[in-house]
Amino acid sequence: MIFETHAHYDDEQFQSDRDLLIQDLLKDKISNIINVSSSVESISSCLALSEKYDKVYAALGVHPSDIADLNEENFAWIREQCQNPKAAAVGEIGLDYYWDKEEDVRKKQREWFFRQMKLAEEVNLPVIIHSRDAAEDTMQIMREVHAENIPGVIHCYSYSLEMAIEFVKMGYYIGVGGVVTFKNARKLKETVAGIPLDRILLETDAPYLAPEPNRGKRNHSGNLIFVAEKVAELKGITPQEVEDVTGENARRLFAKVK
Ligand code: NI
Repeated sequence: MIFETHAHYDDEQFQSDRDLLIQDLLKDKISNIINVSSSVESISSCLALSEKYDKVYAALGVHPSDIADLNEENFAWIREQCQNPKAAAVGEIGLDYYWDKEEDVRKKQREWFFRQMKLAEEVNLPVIIHSRDAAEDTMQIMREVHAENIPGVIHCYSYSLEMAIEFVKMGYYIGVGGVVTFKNARKLKETVAGIPLDRILLETDAPYLAPEPNRGKRNHSGNLIFVAEKVAELKGITPQEVEDVTGENARRLFAKVK
């Protein structure tokens, strides 16, 4: 059984078969799912999904590309929702300079990333961090908020091995998904080989980033077996060992998961 640490089953791409798919996955393939919100709107649907399925938990937060929706009022509402027994993390939060090039927008991203990190600390939940083309500023904000005291994962890790070692030193986990199976993913393969297995989490980011041999199709947690196989190959161990250790890692980080 694999612990899925990052999926978006509230996405409209799952509209037609969401319940059948989740039931099938939880039968014998997937032990737990962290379903991650990205916009203010998606927080309600993530919580609803987590309340419907024992083994599905929610991460509550606003993605850097969706922060235009945030204001004091709904931020206070998010803080209240974090008390829900099925709210297992604050996320996904962070910085995305790939999509947003304007300095005033990036400044807003940094402000809301900072505030959502502090929120996680306040409500005693781990964080799920999204960081794209923004390694230095991500690290700087993490140092400012003393992220070594706020456990979390760098999801869909896309930077160098050297940078990963810095995050691991702060106590962070590295989220590894379908990209590791791609032919051109040299940096991520180096990272997986170079960091300890007890710092790796498996994730899909479904419906996005399906691994080989299903690249380009709609992704789902059943594809994590291909990610586990690739990680096992890079580490010279069995896929079973990868499933077991990454599952333990996830349960250590997401302490509200029963
Ligand atoms: Ni995501």
